[in-house]
Amino acid sequence: MFSPTRAGRAAAAPAVCALALAGLVAACDDEVFGGRSTVVPVDQEDVLRIIDTECVACHAGVDAAGDLDLSSDVCGRIFDGLTVVPGAPYASQLYLRVVSPSAPMPPDAPLPDEDAALIKAWIEQGAACDREPFVEAGPADGAELYSRSCAGCHGASGEGGAGPAMATAAAGLDAAGVAAVAQSGSGTMPGILADAEEAAVVGAYVVETWGGG
Ligand code: HEC
Ligand code: HEC
Repeated sequence: MFSPTRAGRAAAAPAVCALALAGLVAACDDEVFGGRSTVVPVDQEDVLRIIDTECVACHAGVDAAGDLDLSSDVCGRIFDGLTVVPGAPYASQLYLRVVSPSAPMPPDAPLPDEDAALIKAWIEQGAACDREPFVEAGPADGAELYSRSCAGCHGASGEGGAGPAMATAAAGLDAAGVAAVAQSGSGTMPGILADAEEAAVVGAYVVETWGGG
């Protein structure tokens, strides 16, 4: 499958190339073999910055384009076996779409070649990605949601009021159970929160604060 020349060079190439040669010869072509003897390690922040500035505008939130949310938890999201396959840029949609002639990303203004090359090298080198998910401040904050949406009936400190004390209300429920009540109500309590994400956040907060079970 490989010419002796190519195999010879591959033997001298770094581990990244050995990986690529296992199944994806093309991944090792030009940049890596192009006369360079060492691979310059890619700083993941440089790649994440490209994603932040060039992709997130469309790829964010529940209505993210192509159902691909690259915003709040990019590292948690991309390793789905399809978007980024470490070591294999030509199996990684994130790279394939950037260099796609027919359906490039971003659609209106393709990335400069050096940005595409950086993404490719990053994937070849194992796609290190350890940025923590952003925790949204404000509305998604559990304590704030509780005081805005629940405290009126369950008391500012969960002591109870029109509704039962929170320790009683949450007994026997886990975070998902409380979230379901927050969303859909229970008995004489009406559904309060339309947003499933907010309900999940307040559910986690209630269980953490008042126990649950
Ligand atoms: C102007 C809006 C826009 C921008 C900016 C944009 N995309 Fe997209 N992207 C879309 C839309 C719309 C789709 C869904 C339709 C399609 O697949 O072509 C999509 C789909 C994708 C998909 C396929 C998702 C799937 O699983 O089907 C990938 C991968 C992708 N984009 C990567 C990127 C990357 C990487 C960037 C930044 C370099 C980027 N996109 C920037 C609009 C955008
Ligand atoms: C309008 C008043 C009111 C508001 C606002 C309210 N609750 Fe309640 N809640 C009640 C009442 C009344 C009950 C008792 C219902 C029953 O047993 O019929 C209850 C019961 C519960 C229970 C126990 C349900 C069960 O099936 O055991 C949980 C959990 C709960 N509330 C969580 C919340 C959370 C979280 C919020 C804020 C998102 C909230 N509630 C907002 C009035 C309210």
